[in-house]
Amino acid sequence: MHGRITWESPSNIALVKYWGKYGDQLPQNPSLSMTLRQSLTRTTINYQFNSNLKTTKLRFLFEGIPNPDFEKRLLKYLVRLTGRFPVISSLELEIISANTFPHSSGIASSASAFSALALGLLSVIEELSGEKRTHESFYREASEMARLGSGSASRSIYGGYVVWGKTDHFHQYNNLAAIPVSTAIHPVFQKMNDAILIVNAKTKKTGSSAGHALMETNPYASARYHQAQQHVIELHDVLTRGNMDRFIEIVEQEALTLHALMMASQPGYMLMEGGTLAIINLIRQFRNDTKIPLCFTLDAGPNVHLLYLDAYKTEIVDLINRELLLFCTSNHFLDDGIGPGPAKVTNQE
Ligand code: PMV
Repeated sequence: MHGRITWESPSNIALVKYWGKYGDQLPQNPSLSMTLRQSLTRTTINYQFNSNLKTTKLRFLFEGIPNPDFEKRLLKYLVRLTGRFPVISSLELEIISANTFPHSSGIASSASAFSALALGLLSVIEELSGEKRTHESFYREASEMARLGSGSASRSIYGGYVVWGKTDHFHQYNNLAAIPVSTAIHPVFQKMNDAILIVNAKTKKTGSSAGHALMETNPYASARYHQAQQHVIELHDVLTRGNMDRFIEIVEQEALTLHALMMASQPGYMLMEGGTLAIINLIRQFRNDTKIPLCFTLDAGPNVHLLYLDAYKTEIVDLINRELLLFCTSNHFLDDGIGPGPAKVTNQE
């Protein structure tokens, strides 16, 4: 039996950050993210069932070129999944992946990559077994599978605002898989834009796995995990009520806290750069002067995500072109925003 399956899945930006993990890629604190619309990974899986195989045979191409480093990571990932889905060890797989965002944009691509992959693999497993899950259990299982590849990938399985990790307050969320924010989102937040400003596109020196591990000895860890709980609970409420002022405060505090934790670890390190600080200061200055609500957030890197409401697009694009691009590597920004989540590609050639 053989076939081909393609999924497209987006990246996401955490508003409340996941930073610190334990056990089988489980989060030390809950996180809340916004799924993006433009920054996607498209992954095609060509599969062939071969009952003589003892371990998965894999060929991996990224943007048309073999990528041995990612292929190794992928093989490990497939071995981990074999416990749950023994059929994986009897598969010959050719996985072809490409990003819609520029190759060297510095955007974390593990979330889009592992979510596209998990959705693709689960579709292959369903095709081979002939068993079809309900819509809900398919996405739940895919989120759990994506989590094993990269924690933040668990959230990219869904569009809109997504929570991953248990909280003391809400009982619907858990550590195994992400779930979309369960209450209605206020219209103010339904069309959020994210201008991604690339300050430095190079791969960072300290990756997120090492960063998560450093939380184990970070003296501020327990206070941080408590703060993240509070922020998820409060942001949940803010998203329902449409309170942009409080949204800005929480999101910016989360971004700065993430980087403060890095600086306060042993050894401490810094991922913000001069351009990052200049952009942050200009964003705050612009907000003060114009009273236009906009804010920044950061991933584990120097690039800045500028979040703003649709109504102010003209003013913000003008600000970016006039003052912020000066600190960016290229002459343009990635014009992204909230998106509907992954999609299976049916018209594949
Ligand atoms: O999914 P990972 O292991 O690459 O960790 C992601 C960590 C952050 O991007 C900094 C925060 C987050 O919640 O996405």
